[in-house]
Amino acid sequence: MCGIVGYVGPRPSQGILLAGLARLEYRGYDSAGVAVIDETGSLGMRKKAGKLSALRDSLADAALPDGNTGIGHTRWATHGGPTDGNAHPHLADDDRLALIHNGIIENFAPLRDELAAAGVAFRSETDTEVAAALLEREYRSNGGDLQLAFRSVVNRLEGAFTLLAMHEDHPGLVVGARRNSPLVIGLGEGENFLGSDVAAFVEHTRKALAIGQDQIVSITPDAVTVTDFFGTPVQAEPFDVSWDAAAAEKGGWSSFMAKEVAEQPEAVANTIRGRIQGDQVVIPELDGLDDLFTGINRVIITACGTASYAALVGKYAIEQWARVPVDVELAHEFRYRDPVIGADTLVVSISQSGETMDTLMAVKYARERGARTLSVCNTQGATIPRESDAVVYTHAGPEVAVASTKAFSAQITALLLLGLHMGRVRGSVADASVDVAELAALPEKIAKVLETENDHVSQLAGWMADTRSVLFLGRHVGYPIALEGALKLKEISYIHAEGFAAGELKHGPIALIEPGQPVFVLVPSPRHSALVHSKVVSNIQEIRARGARVIVVAEEGDAAVLPFADEVIHIPLAGPMFEPLLAVVPLQIFAMALATAKGLDVDQPRNLAKSVTVE
Ligand code: M6R
Repeated sequence: MCGIVGYVGPRPSQGILLAGLARLEYRGYDSAGVAVIDETGSLGMRKKAGKLSALRDSLADAALPDGNTGIGHTRWATHGGPTDGNAHPHLADDDRLALIHNGIIENFAPLRDELAAAGVAFRSETDTEVAAALLEREYRSNGGDLQLAFRSVVNRLEGAFTLLAMHEDHPGLVVGARRNSPLVIGLGEGENFLGSDVAAFVEHTRKALAIGQDQIVSITPDAVTVTDFFGTPVQAEPFDVSWDAAAAEKGGWSSFMAKEVAEQPEAVANTIRGRIQGDQVVIPELDGLDDLFTGINRVIITACGTASYAALVGKYAIEQWARVPVDVELAHEFRYRDPVIGADTLVVSISQSGETMDTLMAVKYARERGARTLSVCNTQGATIPRESDAVVYTHAGPEVAVASTKAFSAQITALLLLGLHMGRVRGSVADASVDVAELAALPEKIAKVLETENDHVSQLAGWMADTRSVLFLGRHVGYPIALEGALKLKEISYIHAEGFAAGELKHGPIALIEPGQPVFVLVPSPRHSALVHSKVVSNIQEIRARGARVIVVAEEGDAAVLPFADEVIHIPLAGPMFEPLLAVVPLQIFAMALATAKGLDVDQPRNLAKSVTVE
């Protein structure tokens, strides 16, 4: 959460910082601020509660002198509410030093007491200001060496943090550090950048360096140095950003979410590309790593939120094809018990951002316990893949809207690929030709759902704008899609929604059904299992008998559901593991259209942030 950007170079920095913050705003949007060392060598700062537009308005009303060294921050509040005072940057040393922070400094209370006892007067309720005050003390006591002072500070902090700082005594220098929180370097010509992710600087450079855990970086216009927390130089890992700035623009769409929903055929195609050889799935990144799949007797997939629903689809696929037991664990529950894992366990983590703290901690825990780890991730240079033994990247491109859509589809696709790859390596899939053909056909089928159902589903959502509660039911791989449909609706339309396994309804939730209650039912194809299909049709009759308004998502030509449905949303025919990628699309459109009908901001829903880097 929180977006961080830093710049040093020949250009005025404010525009660069504000553009970087605009690209990072998905990470947090309750306040924003910038600090700049101006042409005269003075440090100036402006920060405002509210979205970035409030900061822009303030700068338009009263300009802040510009300069070539600057840092900027967009916040998702943890310690202290979203006020001007709690916004970042935080200043110290007679307002000559500025510092910004992402994460949580867990030992801030004793540090604050220590500093307060020494006479420091704090101006905010944040944990961050403690780091700024500490930096002032270290800076003064070591005679003005910013890098040395910064090193002392980070060694006293516990928790998760990315910090950037600058001091007006040192124009042209920004120092940064990271522990369990993201920070990447952008390499320009005579200028350098720091950012929470590459979006901060991708319009200026696509050359980047990934910074490892517990490392410190200093950037000047011409040099970048990276050390560990003790000052020992380390080699940062270079990478090229695989997308350009245009990919993270709205490009004429009404919202990023609308754009990202529409990009799903491409996201899925890009995730599949290069991973099919003849009739087989071969993931080149996993070359030489067969042991990850043969030397195990158990798989645990761990993730949060939408990614955990992709994980549930992955469970069905991997068990089906690789014939190995799979459990799905919410990452934030995983390490707070004593799970039975070891060298014979493969822990697969799924994360769009690659920075979700709960998931990162689960991966680290798994490694400490001797498990093998593989991540499915959408973001290059992110922490989770760096902490894993192997990575399968989804190639969905940047996802900006807080509600995950194309990344979800790409995650499911990657898990289907992984299941077939594992099945081949383990010898449990002899002939993958039918499934490979299904994979290859997915982008076109998703495009068809978008084309044929967009208006119908949007109209349906418009009629339901006053709805107070919506239920979603599914069985087999339809169950995770029911959960995802409910989550999408909750997070962007603020309507109460629940997803249930259809068979579970009669064990309690059916009491919620009253006349007019809208219920989406994901109906599996009768071609895959007449039995499962008939059970779902029975479930539909049970709720209909109690007055539910039934909206079914069913494959084209499924006549059996028609007599019992108030509305039918059609999806093309697909294999059993592939249906989720089609069925989820109308649910995404429904949530988006309903939120839009309510006049809500679908890209930046209240209380949320895209990348959850606190536990
Ligand atoms: O970046 P990650 O995939 O690790 O994020 C996990 C969840 O926070 C994320 O999927 C969240 O649930 C989305 N806002 C859902 O739309």
